[in-house]
Amino acid sequence: MERILRFQHDSGAFVASPDFAQYNFCWLRDGSFTAYALDRAGHAEAAGRFHNWCASSIDRATPLIAAALDRLSAGLDVDPGAMPPARFSLEGAVVDDDWPNFQVDGYGTWLWSLYQHLQVTGTLALSPGLAAAVKATASYLAAFGMSPCFDVWEEDGRSVHTATLGCVYAGLRSAAVMLGDDALAGQAEVVRASVLGQGRRDGYFRKSDHNEDVDGALLWLGVPFGVVDVHEPAFAETVTRIMAELDLAGGLRRNPADTYYGGGAWPVLTASLGWYYVSIDDIGAADRCLSWIEARFDEEGRLGEQFGGEARDPRSYAAWAQRWGPPAADLLWSHAMYIVLATELFARRPPLVDGAPGPVPPVSNDRRQTMDNK
Ligand code: BGC
Repeated sequence: MERILRFQHDSGAFVASPDFAQYNFCWLRDGSFTAYALDRAGHAEAAGRFHNWCASSIDRATPLIAAALDRLSAGLDVDPGAMPPARFSLEGAVVDDDWPNFQVDGYGTWLWSLYQHLQVTGTLALSPGLAAAVKATASYLAAFGMSPCFDVWEEDGRSVHTATLGCVYAGLRSAAVMLGDDALAGQAEVVRASVLGQGRRDGYFRKSDHNEDVDGALLWLGVPFGVVDVHEPAFAETVTRIMAELDLAGGLRRNPADTYYGGGAWPVLTASLGWYYVSIDDIGAADRCLSWIEARFDEEGRLGEQFGGEARDPRSYAAWAQRWGPPAADLLWSHAMYIVLATELFARRPPLVDGAPGPVPPVSNDRRQTMDNK
């Protein structure tokens, strides 16, 4: 927690990683989950500053949204290089580079995270700045939320990714409530139907319309985005496959073909798995996910992006290390997901028995301490 607050820029942005030059930007995806973690941990003011930063950054990207909508009305093809960005400079500028920017998931996750924030703070009305950004983002998602675009791992730009659809669904539903717009709720259902249709094949949810593998990000379809019930057989089968194919010594990898820094296990996904386990009341399994993450904090309290890739696939690891240096040793999104899982587990402490607070297991005490210090 301490590191997230320390690395929040004056603008409200969260740098993806303070120690990895490629991540010296603020991603809507990482930042939105990070703001959610802050809300969960009682730091709503900092989360609010992030949301205001998003509103002004998206405002700056509104000409790109307008141009994309104009092209659509004119019957022209999507121009992926001219779509609003996945990440902004910390000051909120659109960065003119060749990053695979067309990723709609972050816009959906932002709307979801903002709505969570409003609920936490008991805010009923959007400020004018937020309202304008929410409207622009919702119209962008309504138009392009089901288009082929880059996935949440920024690797495949030609497919419709099932996990991305989950983020879009949650975003449109959130916008529908925030704006009181039933048409957006209807659009969210169209997206959900696509998840359940082309996203679900042979009894499980597949990575994309071009890839039958599973992907760790599919966990978000259940928790937190609620596209499907966590007990739905196809979702349970997806988790079974994720565990069979992506487990790396207790942590979770992104997908079977992942070679980025050797394709190690990610705290972000291990926490997502733990979050799912809490949702099905398997607290022991969730606790093991939390412990796996806790063992990966370094002595300075840093928590990296991924672990174990150098042993799993040394050649790929070395190729990436040669290109970009060592992987991110401190990723704010990793911290955030750890906090989300820890707060989920705190909420499951033994219930009150006789009106007095129930006994708090010693492990939770330790973890509260650990969490505050991180
Ligand atoms: C990941 C993205 C993430 C970005 C910044 C990339 O390597 O694939 O999901 O948003 O890093 O953390």
